[in-house]
Amino acid sequence: MTKRVFSGIQPSGELHLGTLLGALDNWRRMQDEYDCYYCVVDLHAMTVPYDPVEFRRIRLETAKVILAAGIDPDRVLFYYQSQVPQHPELAWILGTITGLGQLQRMTQFKEKADKAGQNLGLLAYPVLMAADILVHKAHVVPVGDDQTQHLELTRDLAERFNGRFGEEFPIPERITPKIGARVMSLQDPLSKMSKSDPDPRSRILLTDDPDVIRKKVKVAVTDSERYVEYDRTRKPGISNLLEIMSFFSGRSIDDLVDQFHDSGYGVFKEAVAEAIIEGLAPLRTRYKELSDADVAHILQKGALDARQRAEETMVSVRRAVGLDSH
Ligand code: AMP
Ligand code: TRP
Repeated sequence: MTKRVFSGIQPSGELHLGTLLGALDNWRRMQDEYDCYYCVVDLHAMTVPYDPVEFRRIRLETAKVILAAGIDPDRVLFYYQSQVPQHPELAWILGTITGLGQLQRMTQFKEKADKAGQNLGLLAYPVLMAADILVHKAHVVPVGDDQTQHLELTRDLAERFNGRFGEEFPIPERITPKIGARVMSLQDPLSKMSKSDPDPRSRILLTDDPDVIRKKVKVAVTDSERYVEYDRTRKPGISNLLEIMSFFSGRSIDDLVDQFHDSGYGVFKEAVAEAIIEGLAPLRTRYKELSDADVAHILQKGALDARQRAEETMVSVRRAVGLDSH
């Protein structure tokens, strides 16, 4: 049997190089091998304060960039989480077997609650994530290492459910991409490139124009030495640029260091910028070709199929927990 993969991205900001190297590139490669379900998890993004008008725009933009990155709707199920009500239905059922303590201990809950204030949705966030994965009986979940705790909870809940109500769910495994697992900020190479960083120069958006990319790389923070060398601790800025260039050029870090060791940071940065621009060119072309109406249509079709598949699980889950009609 082909293994099933589920993954989700929150529509909470513009997608950047970190999202591509850490998530989307992996999604794209997995679609050749697995039965893939990819989701724009809009219900999750509502757990922190947001503006509905901006939310609507970002949600569509996120979906469009994911499609432009090469996610092929003919081969994967791609949809908005909110359009498949079986996700929150299963989340409710799983919520009844989740201990409050376990949720209150989640690092991400504590961090976000400190910043945005507590709410029930934020506390229940990991339970909805478990439902996303389990409603499709996914075997494999590609996510960054910041999601380890959430995936542990998903595995616990699957086991608890199976133990209490009978075998229903496979126990999902997490996989993390090897290269590009952590793309760092261009302005502070000790922290991750992030959608929420207030400084737009800290990240390169997947839709940035070539000139913008050149400028952002040019002003990227490096160090006061002169040689291009790979050392994450001593030279985090240069090392980050080397990793990014290695990803886009397909060349090894050693090979790049050989070529640029003595060339000076200016010349090296120009080459990094050109590699990014060239690497993102196919995405830019596809992005421009996709209309908002195309994207909406693809997502509606995806939701229709996802509802059918999720409903098969829910018929069995409802029977197991005593919610069926006879
Ligand atoms: P987020 O942007 O936090 O919603 O994350 C969406 C996906 O992209 C997750 O799978 C993250 O692990 C991944 N991701 C986000 N930022 C980075 C980064 N700077 N480096 C590597 N992966 C990232
Ligand atoms: N919590 C994930 C993140 O912030 C997004 C997400 C929601 C997810 N549901 C998921 C990821 C299910 C994988 C599987 O990145």
